[in-house]
Amino acid sequence: MIYELTEEQLAVQEAAREFTQKELLPGVIERDRDMKYPAEQVKMMGELGFLGMMVDPKYGGGGMDTMSYVLAMEELSKVDSSASVIVSVNNSLVCWGVEAFGTEEQKQKYLTKLATGEYIGAFCLSEPGAGSDATSQKTTAIDMGDHYLLNGTKNWITNGGTSQIHLVMAQSDVEKGHRGVNAFIVETSWDGVEIGAKEDKMGIRASDTHTIMYTDVKVPKENRIGEDGFGFKFAMKTLAGGRIGIAAQALGIAAGSLELAVKYAQERETFGVPIYKHQAVGFKLADMETEIEAARLLVYRAAQLKDKGLDYTVAGSMAKYYAAEVAMKAATEAVQVHGGYGYVKEYHVERLMRDAKITQIYEGTSEIQQLVISRNLLKKDLYESVMF
Ligand code: CAA
Repeated sequence: MIYELTEEQLAVQEAAREFTQKELLPGVIERDRDMKYPAEQVKMMGELGFLGMMVDPKYGGGGMDTMSYVLAMEELSKVDSSASVIVSVNNSLVCWGVEAFGTEEQKQKYLTKLATGEYIGAFCLSEPGAGSDATSQKTTAIDMGDHYLLNGTKNWITNGGTSQIHLVMAQSDVEKGHRGVNAFIVETSWDGVEIGAKEDKMGIRASDTHTIMYTDVKVPKENRIGEDGFGFKFAMKTLAGGRIGIAAQALGIAAGSLELAVKYAQERETFGVPIYKHQAVGFKLADMETEIEAARLLVYRAAQLKDKGLDYTVAGSMAKYYAAEVAMKAATEAVQVHGGYGYVKEYHVERLMRDAKITQIYEGTSEIQQLVISRNLLKKDLYESVMF
């Protein structure tokens, strides 16, 4: 192995694996079917420290590195991506965003509760008309002196109905375009915050996804994150790390799909032999394993760059782009290996296939990752020393 894991990282991986088997696997099919939020499991994950893994212990977090977080995400996502997306959004978008850019007061007031799971957070950037095109924010936050007045609608918000804290991006000065956007910490109990209907989704059905409406919500000035106009950069910088978490989720879905496919291919016999002995199946498994290992290297590399304090934006986009594509392919192939059994819920692979799809969409679609990667290629002085 190129990547060497420390004892602490291995312990986190083992704890996440044990939790997944004991607490997430039982009932995962039913929660998916009934769109039932895993409230008990989220509570336990808070107690075990999975909701504020990277947060400084002085704010109640685990003080772990990104690599440990990625290992935990991978394990949880082998079985239950509805649960792991809650972990991902709370850790790498909400906790990280507040810890990296918030004031000491904001950290004391909010991060301490978010890190332990007492509060759950949501990241509110997407709008009905601003998904990939995130600079087109229509939600407004008008400066009223001692507070901002927030109005607008946010879409597809993970943890939308179950969170106490929203990080909301809103336009404060249309003339300035994306440089007029601000980011705010909004408490969901405030007047004017309305939670819309829960989305009935293809996958990650037990996670809680809502439209949110803000009508004349008074946001105190001290709840703005960073300088005036920092909101869009805040969102981009935060998403750059979030994408590593989703990349790890995709990796977990792919790895879970492979585990199930290998197990089934040994048990199921056709034409007198276990089906893995047929090249048609064996070669599929070989491709899955090879692609998953390549995805794992990209995901771990992005995490390690972040841990070393190096630039990880493009590495995170590559990891998310590739791991999401691998997840979709591996889950689809796992269904194929299972044949008719793969098409029914009992065998888990059809859920993994539905869950895989979202990893190509949220926190930046595969095409947005390609855009980030290709723009970086073109802007860099990469080719100054080439021989052609
Ligand atoms: N770090 C810091 N700043 C960044 C940045 C980064 N990684 N990426 C872009 N910026 C800055 C740019 O420097 C620029 O600022 P200046 O003009 O001051 O230099 C500004 O942001 C705008 O950038 P671009 O000119 O490149 O803007 P664009 O419109 O051409 O492209 C984009 C931007 C990359 C496409 C961006 O809109 C994007 O990432 N879109 C996808 C949005 C997304 O990922 N949404 C996910 C929703 S959250 C979610 O899914 C959470 C959930 O619940 C699971």
